[in-house]
Formats: sequence, structure tokens, C-alpha cells
Amino acid sequence: MLEIKNLSVSVKNKIIINNLNLEIEKGKKVAIMGPNGSGKSTLSNVIAGKHGYQINDGQIFFNGINILDLDPEERAAKGIYLAFQYPVEIPGIANSSFLRTALNSIRKYNGEKDLNTREFLEECKDLSKRLNLDTSFLSRDLNTGFSGGEKKKNEIFHMLMMKPKLCILDEIDSGLDIDALKVISDGVSKYSNENNSMLIITHYQRLLDYIKPDEVHIFNEGKIIKSGDYNLVKTLEEKGYQEFV
Ligand SMILES: Nc1ncnc2c1ncn2[C@@H]1O[C@H](COP(=O)(O)OP(=O)(O)OP(=O)(O)O)[C@@H](O)[C@H]1O
Ligand SMILES: [Mg+2]
Repeated sequence: MLEIKNLSVSVKNKIIINNLNLEIEKGKKVAIMGPNGSGKSTLSNVIAGKHGYQINDGQIFFNGINILDLDPEERAAKGIYLAFQYPVEIPGIANSSFLRTALNSIRKYNGEKDLNTREFLEECKDLSKRLNLDTSFLSRDLNTGFSGGEKKKNEIFHMLMMKPKLCILDEIDSGLDIDALKVISDGVSKYSNENNSMLIITHYQRLLDYIKPDEVHIFNEGKIIKSGDYNLVKTLEEKGYQEFV
């Protein structure tokens, strides 16, 4: 589903992603762990299409198409979703209006009709309930005044509503309480199936205990320095990054 080839990215002439190669097959859950500042969020942003990065070299293929020339909204319409490490507050835009506009623009891109209001609201209620997110969050301004954990829950709520093919979760566990972590992990695990893929960025074993990734990569200075299965997480937890860096 995702194939990154020899990717090099700079910000203000500083190399952040350094000749990276990474493949994520359809149906797989891939975890990336790495020290602060190693380039994990930069990688997420570059896949999602955020502007402001200098692509020096390489390609990113999504289902066989090189997406580097596509705008973020086109990538989203093709099924790429990024749950932000730091969700943005947008005062004046209701959460549900934002979500509905996003959903309808994706549907339009794919030649589908706008959502029926009743069906949209029913699904919103159903999914927000599953995530223990009170329905009052639908009418509140997007992320405005939400607690740290509520913002993260809302990111996953949007993901479940949008039904993307590639879910990039950038530290979705930071700020979540113990119960919320379980609820969110359950939501992500239930959504995961043989037709979608997950790129899960985290610092902690706990989320991965729930989500059970198929592959784990350790990231440092913009590239993968070690790959393995779930056992790599345990080694990392015991020995820290020094063992690998
Ligand atoms: N717009 C920018 N201007 C200057 N430096 C930047 C910019 N964006 C990223 N960087 C730098 O790139 C490096 C990688 O940042 P990034 O946010 O990708 O790290 P990360 O691996 O996600 O870290 P964390 O685990 O702390 O979230 C950092 O040193 C950061 O300061
Ligand atoms: Mg980050």
C-alpha cells in the first residue's frame, strides 16, 4: 500500500529524513519508535502532504501512484489519514461541520453523493459513543478547549468516520488516561483489517501491547536503524535507544 524509496527531506537546509526506505503492505500494522527529534512527525507530515518541506530525493508510492506531487487534500481523498501529534484548534468551526465538510469533499472526489444528514449524525453518535466521547463534542468548535486526551480521541473519531486506507497515528497515546488508551486502542484494532494499513508512531510499549503491530522499526536521524517484530519493543523498553543508536 505504501512504498517509500530513498526519501530525503530537509527543513531549512537541515536534512531530517535521510535516504529512507519503508514499505507497508496492505493489511499490516507497522510501528515506528525513535528518540525525540529523529524525524517521525516529519515523515508523517511528508506522507500526508504538508507543505514547507524540501524533498531532496526519492518517491512515495501509495497504491502504486507517486503521491509527492499531489496536494494534501488529494492524498486524503485517496485514503491517507493523519492523526496529528498536536491537533490544531480552530475556533469558529464546529467539530461536526469540519468532519462533514471533509467527508463530503472526499466523497465528491470519488464521484459519490453528499452524505445524508440523518445517517451522518447517527454514525457520529454511534462512533463517538464507542470512544466514550460525549456527543456535546460534535457541536463544540474543533479541538477548541478540548483537553489533550479529548483532542486525541477526536482524531480517532474522525479517522473512524472517514474510513481511510492508510492510517498514520502520530503519538495518539500521549495524553490519554489508562482507560482512554484502552478504548482508543480497541477502536483502532477493530478498524484494522486486511484492506487497510496502519503506521503507528509511539514512544510506549503499552499502545503496542493492545494494537499488536506486525512490524516494528526503530528510527534515528531520519532513517530506520533496526527492524523486527513485536519482541523489538520489549528489548527497547528494557535497554533504551543506546543499545541501537
Ligand atoms: N519547520 C521546522 N523548522 C525547523 N526545524 C524543524 C522543523 N520541522 C522539524 N524540524 C526539526 O526536525 C527534527 C525532527 O522533528 P520531528 O518533529 O519530525 O521529530 P519526532 O521524531 O517526531 O520527535 P518527537 O518524538 O519529539 O515527536 C527536529 O530536530 C525538529 O526540530
Ligand atoms: Mg513527533
